[in-house]
Amino acid sequence: MSNWNDVAYKVEFNLEIINELLTDRLPSSSQVLDFGCGYGRITNQLHGLGFKNITGVDSSLEMINRGTNEFPYLELNHVMGTPLPFPDESFDAVISCAVFTCIRDQKIRANVVSELLRILKPNGVIYLAEFCADESVLFTSGVGVPMWHGTQADIKSIVSEFKIEKSLVINNQTMTGHNSKACHVVARK
Ligand SMILES: C[S@@+](CC[C@H](N)C(=O)[O-])C[C@H]1O[C@@H](n2cnc3c(N)ncnc32)[C@H](O)[C@@H]1O
Repeated sequence: MSNWNDVAYKVEFNLEIINELLTDRLPSSSQVLDFGCGYGRITNQLHGLGFKNITGVDSSLEMINRGTNEFPYLELNHVMGTPLPFPDESFDAVISCAVFTCIRDQKIRANVVSELLRILKPNGVIYLAEFCADESVLFTSGVGVPMWHGTQADIKSIVSEFKIEKSLVINNQTMTGHNSKACHVVARK
């Protein structure tokens, strides 16, 4: 088995986010956290959309090292586990792209969500984009990292303490080129 540090310079992530799910809800001055930012791919996309106050955090130091080299103008920080190093109610939005599918332990997922709830402002937005499947499945990805693809219901249940505004499933290949689906959920605190 590999971990994210081992593959940080080998992977090119490809799960697309739907820009409008954020831009329709948030002014460009919003404080946005890209949780599990990897090498900053989505953080950089948000920067390109005009968001001015974006922070990315990731538990893999090598991902952060790669990101700070590729995108030196972004704020990307290495953060291990929980609690997250941010005050209560400090973000207008959190985006998390293909991260919960890498957290196979339900208790860890619950801890992470409770931290995201804590650091979001009242009415703050959470946007999860996650690979999903018709049936929940645990597997090792083509790059050797352990993964979980839940159902749409599983992904929605991650944010069951939030008010869900939108949930849709669209086709999206995995980074190793397999046909798959992605679930996009937008919810508010
Ligand atoms: C599939 S990658 C996606 C990276 C990025 N969001 C993107 O879409 O380009 C998943 C990332 O989540 C990070 N990750 C997994 N568990 C995490 C946790 N508990 N806290 C922070 N980052 C985590 C991994 O290190 C990895 O970089």
